[in-house]
Amino acid sequence: MASDNRHAQRIVVGIDGSSSSGHLPPARSSIPCSPRRLAGSRFLGAALAAAVLVAPCTVATAGTASAAVAGEPGAPGQGDPYFPLAGNGGYTVGHYDLGLAYDPATRRMKGDATLSARAVQDLSAFDLDLSGLTVTGVTVGGKEARFERRGQELVITPGRVLRRGAAFEVRVAYSGVPQYVTDPDGSEDGWIATDDGAFVAGEPQGAMSWFPSDNLPLDKASYSFRVTVPAGYTAVCNGELTSQRTRNGMTTFRWEQTQPMASYLATATVGKFEVERYTTASGVPVYNAVDPRESADAAPALAKIPEILDWGTTLFGPYPFSSAGAIVDRAPDAGYALETQSRPLYDRAPNVGTVVHEMAHQWFGDSVSLTNWRDIWLDEGFATYAEWLWQEQHGGTSAQARFDQYYALPATDGIWAFPTADPGEGADIFASPVYDRGAMVLHELRSAVGDARFFNILKTWAREHRYGNGTTAEFVALSERMSHQDLGPLFHTWLFTAGKPARS
Ligand code: ARG
Ligand code: ZN
Repeated sequence: MASDNRHAQRIVVGIDGSSSSGHLPPARSSIPCSPRRLAGSRFLGAALAAAVLVAPCTVATAGTASAAVAGEPGAPGQGDPYFPLAGNGGYTVGHYDLGLAYDPATRRMKGDATLSARAVQDLSAFDLDLSGLTVTGVTVGGKEARFERRGQELVITPGRVLRRGAAFEVRVAYSGVPQYVTDPDGSEDGWIATDDGAFVAGEPQGAMSWFPSDNLPLDKASYSFRVTVPAGYTAVCNGELTSQRTRNGMTTFRWEQTQPMASYLATATVGKFEVERYTTASGVPVYNAVDPRESADAAPALAKIPEILDWGTTLFGPYPFSSAGAIVDRAPDAGYALETQSRPLYDRAPNVGTVVHEMAHQWFGDSVSLTNWRDIWLDEGFATYAEWLWQEQHGGTSAQARFDQYYALPATDGIWAFPTADPGEGADIFASPVYDRGAMVLHELRSAVGDARFFNILKTWAREHRYGNGTTAEFVALSERMSHQDLGPLFHTWLFTAGKPARS
């Protein structure tokens, strides 16, 4: 969906680190605040559609040969069954340029985000997803635009209709103390303050707690980050560190993630970190940032990164990203790790199994992303099965023995609480039926088709959907195509049928 506009023109806007007063330097050029009272009508019902066409927000594009164009507002969501307001309609994003200044002492952020986007319809207004924070100005194509906050929707009405196919830049200036989002399972998601900075993990919804976005994995984009923190702190993002400069007691870190990335995989984790950098024998640059309180415990697992990269490459195909690494924080309030793209984020010193899990996600989840959150097993079942495979191939429990252990759990156990590929609205999508039963599904597939075909299916899945998205139906179809077998009953039982499956 976003693939046709990845080369949309970028404009780079700066948070200038030259200010000598305070920790939060002003944006290089200030954007005047748009008066809210001018915000265009947005959520009118279908019966009022005709009125929308003549509403003041609908302005014909000047200078076009055609008659006046009356666009329509983009949808506030993309129809994800679990998160209906996630993502937005009417445009796709090719690039995010995120400028942030963060002061761990006050927890205040100042943000300046420029999104390079492309309209996919004649667009009179469109939404970005942003929760909390105060928006101080919005421009579209360099011109001040009206904006309005409606819950997690930032509704933007440009001065003129954006024609279908047109590239445009939207810039949002904002500030405030970011507040994490609370997930259906009660977990904290997004910008999570720590005792020395912030643990920034946005799955599934939390990206909107720190930058405005089209917050659904279907709309992947490249990212530039420019994060300014007080000297002594480190800001770690995805991809490659391109510069690090300290002036007047503030350090600005610039990072580039050039491969497409889903918004939930973006991070700008801030803390007091020990940094380790090297290039693996296979040529992948590694950047690790580790909370010194965790470093002794983290060292054995982090030392395995090059080996895990090579192992994943052998098993799943080429490593999808141009750098790797880890961020090991101390974040008891988060209580989970996340496969932030190219550089997974750990809430504490991880063990080898967790590092294998998060690195396997680089292929399954990050490069090949889900389309709807209902299909989360395509991420978690695969990453969990990668842990089983690592164990099996490194002198540990065989995958079959693991399967048998789980299968021995009684029908009342939580692992059978819902079908793997149909958790249900409001369910905990990070629960055992997705992770462990998800891995069991892959083991059942492997048992049915044999090792050679199974591993070929995994590689083909990673290759055919590289940097894109996939669905459960596509995975089922691929498995049948490559095995020449009718796998309908197997997948029906293991993915979609409630309760503990009977022995096949
Ligand atoms: N994808 C992460 C992992 O399995 C888990 C993220 C959990 N997120 C949450 N909001 N509870 O490594
Ligand atoms: Zn996972």
